[in-house]
Amino acid sequence: MSHVDWKVDELEIFLTAEQIQQRVAELGAQISRDYEGQDLLLVAVLKGSVVFLADLMRHITIPHSVDFMATSSYGAATESTGVVRILKDLDIPITGRNVLIVEDIVDTGHTLDYLRRMLMEREPASLRVVCLLDKRERREVDVPIDYVGFEIPNAFVVGYGLDYAELYRNLPYVAIPKEGFFDQE
Ligand code: IMP
Ligand code: MG
Repeated sequence: MSHVDWKVDELEIFLTAEQIQQRVAELGAQISRDYEGQDLLLVAVLKGSVVFLADLMRHITIPHSVDFMATSSYGAATESTGVVRILKDLDIPITGRNVLIVEDIVDTGHTLDYLRRMLMEREPASLRVVCLLDKRERREVDVPIDYVGFEIPNAFVVGYGLDYAELYRNLPYVAIPKEGFFDQE
């Protein structure tokens, strides 16, 4: 069995664990204030959002529940049409509930736009979005985001849930691969 090529020294830290924790705590506090006395259901999109969700929910001080969806893009189709394949749907109905979608990153916006439309058809009482990272320059569809952790420039990032080839999700920081990272050995 070959070992994994773990080029963690070829990553440049962009957001430190401390910066992320600080901001996630602020988002949790704000969400707790905004939904005070109301029902709240967090809907996280697998797999990238799990790290953010796990931290965020521990900073939400009001009662709430969580559910998960898994999606996958239809290859290049996502770029043009935003068609997203649902690999795992929610376990519970959301009709009449206050739904907050938890996303790791919004890039072109196609994935989130598709999800919002799909969930809106189920007639939730409200539907909002919290994302940790917003690559606003890359946006192709104007999708509303209610809570943003950080606006980031147009660069590929890994860590804190985000992967490259399914790796690096466990890093507690967000990093940008240095020149040479993607080169073959
Ligand atoms: P969108 O549909 O273009 O907004 O793409 C959103 C999805 O693309 C995210 O949920 C991520 O899975 C993936 N993605 C976008 N940018 C990055 C990145 O910089 N690193 C890792 N994954 C990314
Ligand atoms: Mg994602």
